Amino acid sequence: MRFVWAATMAAFLAFPVAAQTPVERGRYLVESIAGCGNCHTPQGPNGPILGRALSGGPPMVEGKLFTAQPSNLTPDRETGLGRYTDAELKVMIREGRRPDGSLIGPPMPFNFYRGMADADVDAIIAYLRTVPSVRSAMPKSVYNIPLPPAWTPPITEPITAPPRTDKVAYGGYLAGPLGHCLECHTPMGPDGRFQFDTMLGAGGMKFDGPWGISVSKNITSDEETGLGRWSDAEIERAIRMGVDRHGRQLMPPMGYAYYARMSGEDMSALIAFLRTLPPRKAP
Ligand code: HEC
Ligand code: HEC
Repeated sequence: MRFVWAATMAAFLAFPVAAQTPVERGRYLVESIAGCGNCHTPQGPNGPILGRALSGGPPMVEGKLFTAQPSNLTPDRETGLGRYTDAELKVMIREGRRPDGSLIGPPMPFNFYRGMADADVDAIIAYLRTVPSVRSAMPKSVYNIPLPPAWTPPITEPITAPPRTDKVAYGGYLAGPLGHCLECHTPMGPDGRFQFDTMLGAGGMKFDGPWGISVSKNITSDEETGLGRWSDAEIERAIRMGVDRHGRQLMPPMGYAYYARMSGEDMSALIAFLRTLPPRKAP
């Protein structure tokens, strides 16, 4: 397994960013920072089943609230995305709305995907059109909570990514709209809403899965419970390899194997942004 990742990683790192076509850009995003397969690829006893990549992931159970079934994102016409147009997919990915008006449910991270630049969401769609088609009908998700009437107002203005020359802003784009780091790493309040205004990056979200229970960590600049005293290399190792500052192996569901394939430039921007998160402590 490790060899496979290492080989793909080398291939990505060797790739000059400027020369990327939309399909290549989409592949880079899906297989690294966006990590769509972390939810949408089936899992076997030895990890993701790569021969069936993106054909629908294991159910995600949130107590009695919902059992969500990450969909088949391969181009199969009946069971995958082949039946949707590019324009329809763009609304589905960023706004969480299907062409029939129904809403796509959590935990698809719409709080953040709504901020994805047009060029990047277009690139992701272009890439998804090229992955091997897998016929796999997923069971329907069951939500016992009411979904809101809409996740976001319709997007009517063009969205562009911050320039890469503005390292912190671009890092924020990676941590938010592309990577939704800040969704998993921000606690919810008693009202069940994310505390983005007051507790951004403070950690404390619980994830129940085959690995047991993991709790997201404080990734703000707080010196005691956050990353304030970590070196850049230590932060990078945690993100890419899932090994913390004390050498302890970190648990899922964070998609370490996807982040391992991020370019050095993107990793450096992401860390520069994390350094700017005001210190917070989860209650
Ligand atoms: C945290 C887990 C998670 C991540 C990450 C995620 N998804 Fe999803 N996605 C889901 C779940 C769960 C559903 C099904 C929700 C439902 O049934 O209403 C879904 C549904 C979808 C749908 C709707 C398909 C349909 O036929 O209704 C699309 C399109 C989609 N995801 C694309 C993506 C793309 C592209 C990415 C990466 C940029 C991505 N997802 C990342 C969990 C995730
Ligand atoms: C699907 C949820 C999820 C996503 C997305 C996610 N994380 Fe995590 N992260 C976790 C969890 C849970 C842990 C703690 C795992 C453990 O303790 O075993 C963690 C641990 C970490 C750690 C180690 C901190 C420590 O004190 O040990 C860092 C650093 C980190 N995440 C940064 C990020 C960044 C940056 C991103 C985006 C590129 C990200 N995470 C995306 C859930 C997530």
